Amino acid sequence: MKALILAAGLGTRFKSDKPKVLHEILGKPMLWYVITNVRNGRIEDIAVVVGHKAEEVMEAFKGENLKFFFQKNPKGGTGDAVLSAKDFFSSYDGYVLIINGDTPLVSGETIRNMQQFIYMVQAYEGVKLSGVVLTTYMADPTGYGRVIKEEGTDRIIRIVEEKDATPEEKAINEVNAGTYIFYAPHLLEALYSIKPSPTTGELYLTDVIEYMTAKGYEVRSFMAKEPTEALGVNTRWELALAENVIKLKIARYWSERGVTIHFPETVWIEPDVSLERDVEIFPNTALKGRTKVKKGSVIGQGSVIKNTTIEENVVVKEYSVIEDSHVKSNAVIGPFARIRNGSEIGEEAEIGNFVEVKKSKIGKETKAKHLAYIGDATLGENVNVGAGAVFANYDGKKKHESHVGSNAFIGSNSLLIAPIKIGNYAFIAGGSVLNKDVPDEALAVSRPELKIIPKRGKKLLSE
Ligand code: UD1
Ligand code: CA
Repeated sequence: MKALILAAGLGTRFKSDKPKVLHEILGKPMLWYVITNVRNGRIEDIAVVVGHKAEEVMEAFKGENLKFFFQKNPKGGTGDAVLSAKDFFSSYDGYVLIINGDTPLVSGETIRNMQQFIYMVQAYEGVKLSGVVLTTYMADPTGYGRVIKEEGTDRIIRIVEEKDATPEEKAINEVNAGTYIFYAPHLLEALYSIKPSPTTGELYLTDVIEYMTAKGYEVRSFMAKEPTEALGVNTRWELALAENVIKLKIARYWSERGVTIHFPETVWIEPDVSLERDVEIFPNTALKGRTKVKKGSVIGQGSVIKNTTIEENVVVKEYSVIEDSHVKSNAVIGPFARIRNGSEIGEEAEIGNFVEVKKSKIGKETKAKHLAYIGDATLGENVNVGAGAVFANYDGKKKHESHVGSNAFIGSNSLLIAPIKIGNYAFIAGGSVLNKDVPDEALAVSRPELKIIPKRGKKLLSE
């Protein structure tokens, strides 16, 4: 089986400079979902028809092992789009799945079931189908092609588009989901025979059905498992609806694998994220990119985690932001922590309130619990970083590194000017400014002398 995805249209109703199929759902272009669903439907030989802003669409999917065909007139209609790719199937004696590039909800399972249906009809009824059309019932079918069938059967006589439908036809609730499987030789024959619509001048793919049935070729309907599968994304509002459906599908998938998600309607989990059992996710969180969260970890309310591995039993408290990093088991992050640029947080380490960690390695059981900046630094085990400590890694031109040994104590409000090395068991007194290395076990203090002048305070206040 081959698959052809139609993605050349203008997407006028999106009112966008960006091609419609590149608009994103949970961090991935809409077309990515269609391609992924087709692959999950066990079809590998996939071609995409591009036209409007073709370069951008091809660029977004280069290296994905897809064939591209170009539709010269992106207003030509879905029939013209398929004809533009005729070289893909014109010498192929088999079936081709055709799917609209704006239907990201048709599942891989449904695509497999449609293929199965063709083989079943052949095996049990001895009928070789020329086409199968995915359909569903919609309470409000406005905008979709209506499916006209032979009374009491699944045989389709024709599909009539909204713009060409009579009031009686408009009252039909069974709609065309925009996913079909056709026997390639019959499809080609039909495409050469159909005429553009007198109302729109477009060549409709859906018109091949009337031609086929008139020839005695059999086309049947196949009911989508869920009516939402048929949702076509023609507007930004439909994009939002599709995103909601996909978001809940992903949340449900993980909840069935042992993940607790509180208020899933508020949780954003992208499709490449992976989670383990007993992970607990609180409201308004976002897990993005290739994030992995391992067993028993908790993601607190409002946290955003991107391309990060969170090992077992980590607690990420409220409103923390973690990007491109690795957090080891039993660490405690947040609330309001920011960790980024390939940082590694050791086991049982604690990175607390308003602490920023950039491209740094934090050893086991090391703690920085309040108001600190740790950049380009390596900290050993069991270090204590006091409130307000700053690693000054940038001299205005270049970034420099800092190294802190195990069991060191960095007092509050100290300033470490990189490059610098602080030894094991070194003690940095609060408020110190350090521009020299501190050896193991030493005390470093740099402070202007404190003067206390009796009675002077009150005098100043009463002047
Ligand atoms: C189409 C169907 C309609 C069905 C609906 C389901 C036709 C004539 N109508 O209508 O029966 O109920 O989908 O969602 O097929 N495209 C091209 N080249 C073109 C025109 C469109 O590649 O010249 C692509 C678009 O990029 C899009 C897909 O084909 O991905 C469908 O086109 P669209 O204009 O959205 O068709 P609908 O009006 O939704
Ligand atoms: Ca559409």
